[in-house]
Amino acid sequence: MFAQLKEQPADKILALMAAYRADPRDDKVDLGVGVYKDASGNTPVMRAVKAAERRILAEQDSKAYTGLAGDPAFGAAMKSLVLADSVDHAHVAAVATPGGTGAIRQALELIKRAAPKATVWISDPTWPNHPSIINYLGMKSQSYRYFDSETRGVDYIGMLTDLGAMLPGDVVLLHGCCHNPTGANLTMAQWDGLIKLIKEKSAVPFIDIAYQGFGDGLEEDSAATRKVVSAFDNVLIAASCSKNFGIYRERTGILMARCKDADETAITQQNLAFLNRQNYSFPPDHGARIVTTILNDPELRADWEAELEETRNGMLALRKQLADELRRMSNSDRFDFLADHRGMFSRLGTTPEMVEKLRADFGIYMVGDSRMNIAGLNADTVPVLAQAIIKAGI
Ligand code: LMR
Repeated sequence: MFAQLKEQPADKILALMAAYRADPRDDKVDLGVGVYKDASGNTPVMRAVKAAERRILAEQDSKAYTGLAGDPAFGAAMKSLVLADSVDHAHVAAVATPGGTGAIRQALELIKRAAPKATVWISDPTWPNHPSIINYLGMKSQSYRYFDSETRGVDYIGMLTDLGAMLPGDVVLLHGCCHNPTGANLTMAQWDGLIKLIKEKSAVPFIDIAYQGFGDGLEEDSAATRKVVSAFDNVLIAASCSKNFGIYRERTGILMARCKDADETAITQQNLAFLNRQNYSFPPDHGARIVTTILNDPELRADWEAELEETRNGMLALRKQLADELRRMSNSDRFDFLADHRGMFSRLGTTPEMVEKLRADFGIYMVGDSRMNIAGLNADTVPVLAQAIIKAGI
């Protein structure tokens, strides 16, 4: 049986992780996979996470199943964190999922059941797992222009023009903040224009928010999501706790579906629970319990928010340092966009050949589309990267 299997294309980000590990050079720099690293190159367990885990260890008296949607307390805490008061929480169906990827997968399966003919519109570029899962599920997709390779900002006109071709009931997948892979984001005024267009087209927004707290702050990063959620009867929101709680391997995420009324919420909730049952039955609980413990305890929450702010400010400082170094070395402002981008990633905007040159000649690993994980840098490696970019002739 297994002899019939065909080879699968390697995931570019995960293949890069393996190549970096196999590189014997001491001075190699990993700007590949989106994992936060501190100044010493570690991905630390956040203080509040450790404290919550200690509390759970001491107090948890059962490992019995929760429910198909996960612990309702997790759903409530996440609705507050992501959506705040943008919508009546009673009209939001929600299920815990294994990470943000699990939430995206369940959202797409829900779309497939509710609107099998819908086309899912994805940004060009987007996180490679978006088209990969859409194709795997045999769904229709189209891409819309997003990145302006001249300015390294958003190609807003191109985006609106392409999305102008959406048909009623189509779904548009948007990054709530910290666009992956480009780091270029819409302004709030641009979100307003986009909402207007999506309404005109009677399309459905689907927001992937995986980096809340990594851009401009917890509230600021969810502002666009909240705006969208308050503007439509139906919105899908896939949220990840991997990055902002640093619990990558715990696989903690949630899918929320904003519904029109109580009846629609009940049927959507029932379908989401059904999908969880088909795919993995009960979602993982440990990470969700950590998150709930932190969000519901004022002291732990304050400490978590403080550490998240330190993380965010650290990334902003690295962006500024890199843009400053490159301004000095290139004697130009052509890399200033790096300081304007937000989140973990920036797309440098160079060719795959140059990306390969950076890897071969300088031991610098970034994704082939020139996505750099800014959190993979530190104060010492920023000048190394800047010099390599200049020496390579980018
Ligand atoms: C990334 O984009 O690097 C992260 O979201 C990790 C992943 O699973 O690809």
